[in-house]
Amino acid sequence: MVPGGPLSRGYTGRMTPGERVRIYEVGPRDGLQNEVRPIATADKARFVGLLADAGLREIEATSFVSPKAVPQLADAEELLRTLERRPGVRYPVLVPNERGLARAEAAGAEAMAIFTAASDAFARANIGMTVDESIERSRPVVARARELGWWTRGYVSTAFGCPYTGRVAPERVVEVALRLAELGVDEVALGDTIGVGVPAQVADLVGLLAVAGLAVERLAFHFHDTRGTALANVVAGLHAGVRCFDASTGGTGGCPYAPGAAGNLATEDLVYLLDGLGHEHGVRLEGVLAAARFVAVVLGRPLASKVGQAGGWDPATGRAVGRE
Ligand code: HMG
Ligand code: MG
Repeated sequence: MVPGGPLSRGYTGRMTPGERVRIYEVGPRDGLQNEVRPIATADKARFVGLLADAGLREIEATSFVSPKAVPQLADAEELLRTLERRPGVRYPVLVPNERGLARAEAAGAEAMAIFTAASDAFARANIGMTVDESIERSRPVVARARELGWWTRGYVSTAFGCPYTGRVAPERVVEVALRLAELGVDEVALGDTIGVGVPAQVADLVGLLAVAGLAVERLAFHFHDTRGTALANVVAGLHAGVRCFDASTGGTGGCPYAPGAAGNLATEDLVYLLDGLGHEHGVRLEGVLAAARFVAVVLGRPLASKVGQAGGWDPATGRAVGRE
């Protein structure tokens, strides 16, 4: 459903005809990793299936991290075995070290994301090492994944602020992003782990990265919506030329090692915005809402997202759609 109109109505983002926005779904990984109550592997697999039904083509499925660090995702092998892989859908997994990569490889993964941060304090809390150490630890992981022909991504967490040390200098974010790019990852995702960023910072970061030589085509943004700025930040990213945004269906999410972080930007909120702006992305809002309702039932609580609560909107009738 397209509630608004074509790009020309007020929006000045530079899209060329046929250009698409990628929605990188993180619900099964980021969305569930912080949930304390165990979720059945079969429910996770069903969730991934509903996301693929909705048209999502990049679904970050799980993590091969230490099960002590993230007990909820200790079933990563079983999930990869269980989920029905659809042609044309990429299922990246989060990998912290060589051990994680070996597990992911044995489980049949074909795409992965490594992760570090712009702040040492967060890196220590999250992965027990400094940023420098984590980049060195990721070097053989990325090299091996590339040898295997996998698609690879590198996350820079705390790109807008750290829960332990506060402000993070954009120059530091640029430095870490460039070092990940030099490892050879296909894409660098900048994470607003605790949801403190605002649009001007998004524009500044993209500008600094462009000057430093990182092509905007290799950039993605990963916004947590803790303070309600995620959609505004997406618009700033679109204006700056970024074409990949992370989101979590149902608006779930949070990192166990980032106190105060709330859910990711909800996929349904992102889809509604992109539809209104007239951007092609290939995802059906009603399908996302069906997956969001499923996850709400599994988690036993109502949806936190705006569009999850209100539904989409049909301009022909003025009625809400996709709400049951
Ligand atoms: P460690 O304890 O410092 O390191 O963990 P270790 O190498 O000494 O290992 C300790 C134990 O973990 C050992 O077991 C290892 O075998 C085991 P033990 O001898 O105690 O029985 N181990 C593993 N087991 C399974 N798979 C592995 C693995 N590696 C070690 N791959 C480590 C270091 C990095 C492993 C740990 O701290 C960890 O797994 N951290 C992950 C934390 C995490 O997943 N956080 C959330 C994801 S990041 C995020 O959400 C942010 C993001 O969304 C972007 C944003 O929002 O900004 C991406
Ligand atoms: Mg995150």
